[in-house]
Amino acid sequence: MSHLNFKADAHALRDELIALRRDFHRHPELAFEEQRTAGIVAQHLTDLGLEVQRGVGQTGVVAMLEGERSGPTVLVRADMDALPIHEDTGLEFASGTAGKMHACGHDGHTAIALGVAKLLAGQRQQLAGRIKFVFQPAEEIARGAKAMVADGVLANPRPDVSLGLHLWNTLPLGQIAAAEGPVMAGSSDFKIIVQGRGGHGAIPQLAVDPVVVAAQLVTAFQSIISRNLDPLDSAVLSVTMLRAGEATNIIPETAELAGTFRFFRSSARDLIAQRLRAISAALCAALGCTAEVTIVDHTEPVINDSAVTRQVRLAMSDILPPAHMHDLRTMGSEDMSLFMSDIPGMYFFVGAHVEGRDLNWGHHHPRFDFDENALPLGVALLTAAVASYVLPD
Ligand code: NI
Repeated sequence: MSHLNFKADAHALRDELIALRRDFHRHPELAFEEQRTAGIVAQHLTDLGLEVQRGVGQTGVVAMLEGERSGPTVLVRADMDALPIHEDTGLEFASGTAGKMHACGHDGHTAIALGVAKLLAGQRQQLAGRIKFVFQPAEEIARGAKAMVADGVLANPRPDVSLGLHLWNTLPLGQIAAAEGPVMAGSSDFKIIVQGRGGHGAIPQLAVDPVVVAAQLVTAFQSIISRNLDPLDSAVLSVTMLRAGEATNIIPETAELAGTFRFFRSSARDLIAQRLRAISAALCAALGCTAEVTIVDHTEPVINDSAVTRQVRLAMSDILPPAHMHDLRTMGSEDMSLFMSDIPGMYFFVGAHVEGRDLNWGHHHPRFDFDENALPLGVALLTAAVASYVLPD
């Protein structure tokens, strides 16, 4: 039998995974600056005998593990970038760079994918197919996947299935979320400049006040999700920036609103964008000014393919009881969706917080940390998922 005992073999890597993660954590690098991280990743994969390519999508790394038998190509993706946050954990391996921090767990994802590569590299004779390991830069600014796709990461060979994971601090250690269908939202931003006519704060009849218009736009936008979208569809729209004026006695020329909206279906994105434009134009026309609306689409929703998800959940049930697999979804976003919108795939969340320890700070918080026991568990789960495609019984 070729099969590894994934749980035991991953557990044997525990110290190595923790050392890797802490090293990445100590040396965080922001989007498209991941030179040091990429160098360490490339060295590890080269040492394992994989064929390694650097500079894919600027700072990304792609490594191919070729099995000795023919079979499908599985894409395994990990993200490598940190955030512009000043760390406040007090950990001995805390960030050594002021203003930069691994506050989302990508240090852990990188270590986990290296662990998966190590376990599967030891099974090369039995492997039927190949694994394309994709270490992606710039997830936090939603540009890394796009850069790697532009550099051909989804070709030569084209993967048959795409897999990825995220450590997740709202789930306890030992629990995962692995739902079918949409699990993370697509994301778009909007910016609206209301052009009025400035004037004296005490003589409004000679002006067109953009502040009054902006305030009504904020209110009117609340009707898009509540009144226009199918109540069984999920989406959120938040106006997060509102700027106008410099003085108490001056009506400004312009007011500016900006925000984000998240959605599980592209049809919801199209509806929200259309309503944002229509409400802005009509309300501004009614109140005697104009609006310039800019909408920028960032990511597609992350949608787990049903067949892939069922197969992966079954493979993972050797490691975790199905009762520990949940259907959590989040309106957060992930540019893994760009790979998955082309290659059927599955993205799951590995619980990483322990009640009673100081590990339930949210992702992107200056005190974020996770339970490192999630690292070997993540390796075991992801290896089992990959193996279900390329390691026949
Ligand atoms: Ni993240």
